[in-house]
Amino acid sequence: MALSILKAQIPFIKLLLLFLLGIGDGARILAPFFLPVKSHFMMTDAIIRELVKRGHEVTFITPLSLAKENLGPKYREILLPKYDTWADISAIMKIQSALDMIDMTKLTHMRLAQHIGIKSTDFALAHPEVQELIHAKDKEGKFDLLLVEQFYNEGALMLGYLYEIPVITIATFAYANYFSQVFGFVNPLAYVPNVFMASTDRMSLWERLENVLLSTAEDVVREVSYYPQQDAVIRKHFGLILPQVPTVKQLEQNISVILLNSYLPLTSPRPMTQNMISVGGLHILPTKSLPEHIGSYLDNAEHGAIYFSLGSQVRSADMPPEKLRIFLEVFASLKQRVLWKFEDDQLPNLPENVRAEKWLPQADILAHPNVKVFIAHGGLFGMQEAVYHAVPVLGLPFYFDQGINIKAGQAAGYAIELDYRTISKDLLSSALHELLTNPKYQANMDNASRIFRDRPLGAMDTAMYWINYVMEHRGAPHLVAAGVHLPWYQFYLLDVTAIIMAIILLPLLAFYAVSRKMKSMRGIRALEKEAKYE
Ligand SMILES: *[C@@H]1O[C@H](CO)[C@@H](O)[C@H](O)[C@H]1NC(C)=O
Ligand SMILES: *[C@@H]1O[C@H](CO)[C@@H](O)[C@H](O)[C@H]1NC(C)=O
Repeated sequence: MALSILKAQIPFIKLLLLFLLGIGDGARILAPFFLPVKSHFMMTDAIIRELVKRGHEVTFITPLSLAKENLGPKYREILLPKYDTWADISAIMKIQSALDMIDMTKLTHMRLAQHIGIKSTDFALAHPEVQELIHAKDKEGKFDLLLVEQFYNEGALMLGYLYEIPVITIATFAYANYFSQVFGFVNPLAYVPNVFMASTDRMSLWERLENVLLSTAEDVVREVSYYPQQDAVIRKHFGLILPQVPTVKQLEQNISVILLNSYLPLTSPRPMTQNMISVGGLHILPTKSLPEHIGSYLDNAEHGAIYFSLGSQVRSADMPPEKLRIFLEVFASLKQRVLWKFEDDQLPNLPENVRAEKWLPQADILAHPNVKVFIAHGGLFGMQEAVYHAVPVLGLPFYFDQGINIKAGQAAGYAIELDYRTISKDLLSSALHELLTNPKYQANMDNASRIFRDRPLGAMDTAMYWINYVMEHRGAPHLVAAGVHLPWYQFYLLDVTAIIMAIILLPLLAFYAVSRKMKSMRGIRALEKEAKYE
């Protein structure tokens, strides 16, 4: 009797147990993000906020705190003291401000990114609270998913290995050619330019040559210098607790999904594996109303307005006086109003139609119908906002992917590029005039905007879908292409190529050998004949 009552209660008891264990009540996500580069967190923070909002428990390891947003009890933060990347970069490169990075070679740039990646990984893994996570006695069932940045911080993948949980990476930049090896597909260098090159998908012969050389150099540098350094950092922090420490390459083979900060038409079409998911623009929120003084300034711009910002890294305030003068004098000659993100208190000789502010709500400004041109450095997030809100761009690229982003805009006819180093009053004035008066830029931008917005599922919903998918399917190993497990000679079919070459070459060689033999035999016979007649 008692037994049958108990039996009847089983479904209820199961439910109760599930409830007590907290299953079905949101997952527990560990999110170590080590790289202290502010712009990258526009994407990361947006994802973290959304995960918490949807009831997941998130442990965020970050150099940039979200504490003052009061995300509630589901949010736990491990705040890393800030490793000063900029001091490091300026010391190595002997430069004064980010403006000077415009002269860096592509390879130097690549090495620099790797350098700050290694340093920030080492720095973060040594932090006491991260050490606590590493050395925790009972790791089983503590977390359901690891979310990490795909940017030279591969040491963080070790937390997924230790806690035995699936891994999703987030590429806050759009795309890198080395994804080929990491996700197991052969990347067509004929039309996919390296992110460090300012090229479109239509490359000249010389551009394709540069692309092959640069992408190969990147692969070789990763192989012989970068991976060994990152492996050494991993051994330093995990060697004592593990008999056998996996390598970065082994860890990378277990990445379930990568979320890419890209979407058409900002990134050109290209082959990707099924676990590479484009979610570009997920940081863009529904438009909010502008602060009163900015709102009325733009509302009353009867000839339209220009918005000018060089992003969070490059500071307008670092420009030398002769460059500032060019901008100020050209702006003074315009009918339009100009809103300038300028990081110092003082900007002398400000014309009447120019307003400078230290911080501006960029996306909401670009959403204002009176904003006609965006003067930008071409950072990915700003370009996405420009395309989303359909504002033509005057691009002044400085480094990294800024060149390639502006080139894409120029090719699509919604941007004009100027070189900051050679900018003059005439060049700036005629570029602005062209953007403000020739309607084709706005028309092209309207089309790009329609393409960028038209998706089966919104950017953030897509990211959330795949995060849940990976947990639902326990890491979803069925998504991972077999290419990640192949040795390089199989991956590039060099073994097959060798056989085909052999099949073609062997008969030729044989033929050559036989004909030489026959020739020399004929030669001998002729000699013998000659000898006879003498
Ligand atoms: C990769 O995943 C498999 C299956 O979950 C696991 O057994 C293995 O230890 C993981 N390896 C690494 C290096 O993460
Ligand atoms: C924009 O798209 C429309 C419809 O697809 C097309 O007819 C038009 O030519 C395009 N405009 C430009 C400037 O490309």
